Amino acid sequence: MLTIIRKKTIVAIALFAVVALSIISGNSLIEKAIAQSNNQKVVMVTSADYPPYEFRDTASGNNEIIGFDVDIAKYITKELGLELSITDTDFNGIIPALQSKRADFAMAGMTPTAERKKNVDFSDIYYEAKNTIVSLKGSNLKTPADLSGKEVGVQLGSTQETAAKEFKNVKLKSLNKTSEIIQEVKAKRIEAAVIEDTIAKGFIANNPDLEFTTIPNVGEAGSAIAFPKGSTRVADFNRVLAQMKQSGEIDRLIKKWFENNGNPVATPTNSGFGFGKIASSIPYIIDGIKITLLFTLISAFFGFLWGVILSLFKISTLKPLQWFANAYTSVFRGTPLLLQIALVYYATPQIIGYNIPPLLAGVVTFTLNSGAYISETIRAGILAVDKGQAEAALSLGIPYKPMMQDIILPQGLKNILPALVNESIALLKDSALVSTIGVADLLRRAQIVGAEKYIYFEPLLFAGIVYYLLVMSLTWGGYALERRLQRSS
Ligand code: ARG
Repeated sequence: MLTIIRKKTIVAIALFAVVALSIISGNSLIEKAIAQSNNQKVVMVTSADYPPYEFRDTASGNNEIIGFDVDIAKYITKELGLELSITDTDFNGIIPALQSKRADFAMAGMTPTAERKKNVDFSDIYYEAKNTIVSLKGSNLKTPADLSGKEVGVQLGSTQETAAKEFKNVKLKSLNKTSEIIQEVKAKRIEAAVIEDTIAKGFIANNPDLEFTTIPNVGEAGSAIAFPKGSTRVADFNRVLAQMKQSGEIDRLIKKWFENNGNPVATPTNSGFGFGKIASSIPYIIDGIKITLLFTLISAFFGFLWGVILSLFKISTLKPLQWFANAYTSVFRGTPLLLQIALVYYATPQIIGYNIPPLLAGVVTFTLNSGAYISETIRAGILAVDKGQAEAALSLGIPYKPMMQDIILPQGLKNILPALVNESIALLKDSALVSTIGVADLLRRAQIVGAEKYIYFEPLLFAGIVYYLLVMSLTWGGYALERRLQRSS
């Protein structure tokens, strides 16, 4: 009986996995096919955490990135007869994305610094912003000298970070997102932040407890478009930029995005607490559940299969198999998962030339990683099955494979079910790590809404509640399965 149920389940799960995998890789395959058949298509990479340069308009229901940079990119590509698509990543993922040719150009309010010029090419500067010091109202921090002895927040990998490194006697705290830096100032964990004026205006308008002062630009400043080294598009883009400056189009866009209170979309409603502030964006966040679940299920399925194989290696009598499985486990358990994701995502295009889509990179990493953990659990489960069972089977003349498949593994699996549920729970929560490579999962969506609305607490709390509910359902599902197996034994 158990065998029949098992076979059916395995077939069903395998079918599901195939369908799901083809969904994630299918989109990018189709995209690739289109790109190849028609080389007029260009991909722009950005970091949509930087209103009004680039951010997501989550309330409008479509997952669209808008802003000053986006308008310029649309104008230029239209002029050049190119078809534009936009992808999103963390700011410090932009240069790697260009280097691995994941994108044809980048616009992210990016300053052409000498250091960056070693790795990418830049267009002419299209806009020059000034840096500001943002601090709590009344703190009277107006010049770099005032920051002496203080802790100051900057965005990781930004020009503000470089500029602030020159300030005397300042302790820097580099964070991934501008909204996180502002939150740190508000929470008094740091005294000030160095942020661009255009961005600062938006935050100040939405946070009445903050103030900012503009400081003179030292060294490198201004925003330009970045291209992979040696790109042939730079001259064309420069030509259109010059045309835009001359015709007043750039000025029009500056007015549109920077002079409307520095904040074209969000309205200052940020005091107090309440989910009402993010109500219009809640469907957008909830949509992330699909991605989070899809991701978890596929990774759990393949991780489990891989774990079974590795555990069989470990208990096998063949030394090389044992050796491989043990070395494998030690590497994957011995290094951070976050590092493994970044490696798979950024190194795959460089090493094998395949532009692995973020979601697939996540699934691959999680399968490899959880296979290592699961193999240990399964090995323990197998060893816990009474030795007499294997001896009896062998003396009855049952060969190794059917013995493992029909006698030992089913019993072992039943024992380790709680541990497997545990592993799936860990996987579900760790899936949030894919937000770092730009997958719009639950966490990433919450962060995007935070960046758009200049609030941090409510979207994160909301995502936390959703994660918790998901984990609870998984736990109950696990109990139910356990009871069922107990009955059918
Ligand atoms: N202008 C600064 C730089 O080039 C900050 C840009 C940050 N952009 C962003 N989309 N987060 O480093």
